[in-house]
Amino acid sequence: MLSTALTNALQTQIGYEFSASQTYLGMAAYFHAQNLDGWAKFFERQSAEEREHALKIFHYLLETGSPAKLPIIPEAPVEYRSALETVEKSLEQEQKVSQAFKDMAAIALKEGDYTGFGFLQWFIEEQVEEEATFERLIALVKSGINLFQAEALLPQ
Ligand code: FEO
Repeated sequence: MLSTALTNALQTQIGYEFSASQTYLGMAAYFHAQNLDGWAKFFERQSAEEREHALKIFHYLLETGSPAKLPIIPEAPVEYRSALETVEKSLEQEQKVSQAFKDMAAIALKEGDYTGFGFLQWFIEEQVEEEATFERLIALVKSGINLFQAEALLPQ
């Protein structure tokens, strides 16, 4: 059984992960509407990954005998001003998530929950990759490249 503080934080995080999944799906819709199918598929894959993250936490709560919770997910936009806005908002979102996992790791250590601390390491490492992905995409869009040509350079 996890500590109450870590359980609460993980329950909240499930909401953030589903919310990120929904946000990325909205971005996929935005790109799809412009026939930028490569960008749309990239954001759909991101959306699926975030759902996987939510499920990973969900299963961890169940496996540790902790109560699962499914927070309300806010509506996600499907319109943006530009491709740059989508990748900048994505990086911002990932940075918040990275901080949330670091805060949870601090809670786990404070509570002496070394199993929980170990579980959180996977996410902390994953976040390094996610932030780097969006930093590269911001640079790609800022280079002024045609967005159709940029599709060949998107992460698979
Ligand atoms: Fe699951 Fe990219 O945070």
